[in-house]
Amino acid sequence: MLKQLLADKKTLIVVGPGGVGKTTTAAAFAVHAARSGLKTLVLTVDPARRLANSLGLEELGNHEVRIPPERFAAAGIDLGSGELWGMMLDTKSTFDAVIERYAPNPEIKEKIFSNAFYKQASTALAGSQEYMAMEKLYEIREQRSYDLIVLDTPPTANALDFLSAPERLEDFLGSGSSGMLMRSMKAAGRVGLGLLKVNAFVLRGLNRFVGSDTFIDLLDFISSFDEMYAGFKARARRVREILRSPDVAFVIVTSTASSAIDEGGFFYDQLERSRMPFGAVVVNRVRPSYMEDKDLAGLGDHLIAKARTTAEMKAYDGYHVARLLERAAQACVDYETLARVDADRVVEVRERFKRDGDKVYPVPLFDRDIHDLASLARFAEHVASATGA
Ligand SMILES: Nc1ncnc2c1ncn2[C@@H]1O[C@H](COP(=O)(O)OP(=O)(O)OP(=O)(O)O)[C@@H](O)[C@H]1O
Ligand SMILES: [Mg+2]
Repeated sequence: MLKQLLADKKTLIVVGPGGVGKTTTAAAFAVHAARSGLKTLVLTVDPARRLANSLGLEELGNHEVRIPPERFAAAGIDLGSGELWGMMLDTKSTFDAVIERYAPNPEIKEKIFSNAFYKQASTALAGSQEYMAMEKLYEIREQRSYDLIVLDTPPTANALDFLSAPERLEDFLGSGSSGMLMRSMKAAGRVGLGLLKVNAFVLRGLNRFVGSDTFIDLLDFISSFDEMYAGFKARARRVREILRSPDVAFVIVTSTASSAIDEGGFFYDQLERSRMPFGAVVVNRVRPSYMEDKDLAGLGDHLIAKARTTAEMKAYDGYHVARLLERAAQACVDYETLARVDADRVVEVRERFKRDGDKVYPVPLFDRDIHDLASLARFAEHVASATGA
């Protein structure tokens, strides 16, 4: 039950494939938690502009803002003693703060900040967005007193990327002089840059985000970073521990598309293997059926027969009315077919998440985007009222 989840946990991490509704789910859960009296923070990644507006986050940087209680009152929502805070995650400034913390002296700090490679790496490095989301979460958990923090996660090609982000970032930056990149750089320094080309694996990695003219910047960056590596690594370990703490739970969001269900399932298995806590699965954008078990095949005939006996319809040309109704009936049948597929997919999700089949919550496809407080509240009510059976 959603109520139980919000009461038991201090952090929810919302994950899922791109575009399934992670940001919406995170915001909706946070609205619901605030309504149930909790002091709640939602850390969002790149929300749609209208959602950011509704949360009052449009102009703000990397810090928390309280969503004014009047906005809830205007949306007809009674917040009681609850509070909702929001913050937009900004990878670059979070990375900057990490450097600030671990740079051994101001010179190194300035050297890193002005380094052309760093400017790209801090946002484009594989895993840096995901890692920085966790880093920010760690910082806020340590320093502030929220009853609940809901963390939205960046759009990754694969939701599992989120779990491996700290390792990938660490691997890339290398454990000081033994790291993959560092080793290659040192070797290159000894034998000349020309030979580095031999190490195609490293080059391929680098080419993703550096041009050859920033190569010197890269060498410079690596040697500066080397000096703060120990501190960074210790911190990364603590950050990673969050993912295993019992007051955290992962909320997996999926659509009814088979590929998204598969990905959600892989993520679920991975959580279990890594002993990380699972919370709920939201199956988003489920097309509701309006016909339930009614016979669809006879729908067109039924509508036409009905029109023939309806007095107002007699004023119209019978042939055209029949054509129009046939088309309307066909559209209805097509939609119902999709709705039945979706219903089957929800059953499939329950089977896939067998042991937690009662924590699978379908949310219907709304007739428009979800960007205001009232529709976020409605979204969460669907989750809250799902029996989960
Ligand atoms: N149940 C729903 N019904 C209708 N629209 C929805 C529903 N859920 C989400 N949306 C809309 O779909 C769009 C994408 O949702 P959202 O931004 O939450 O996805 P996301 O998983 O965070 O995407 P990304 O991976 O790019 O971060 C938004 O415009 C949102 O309002
Ligand atoms: Mg998003």
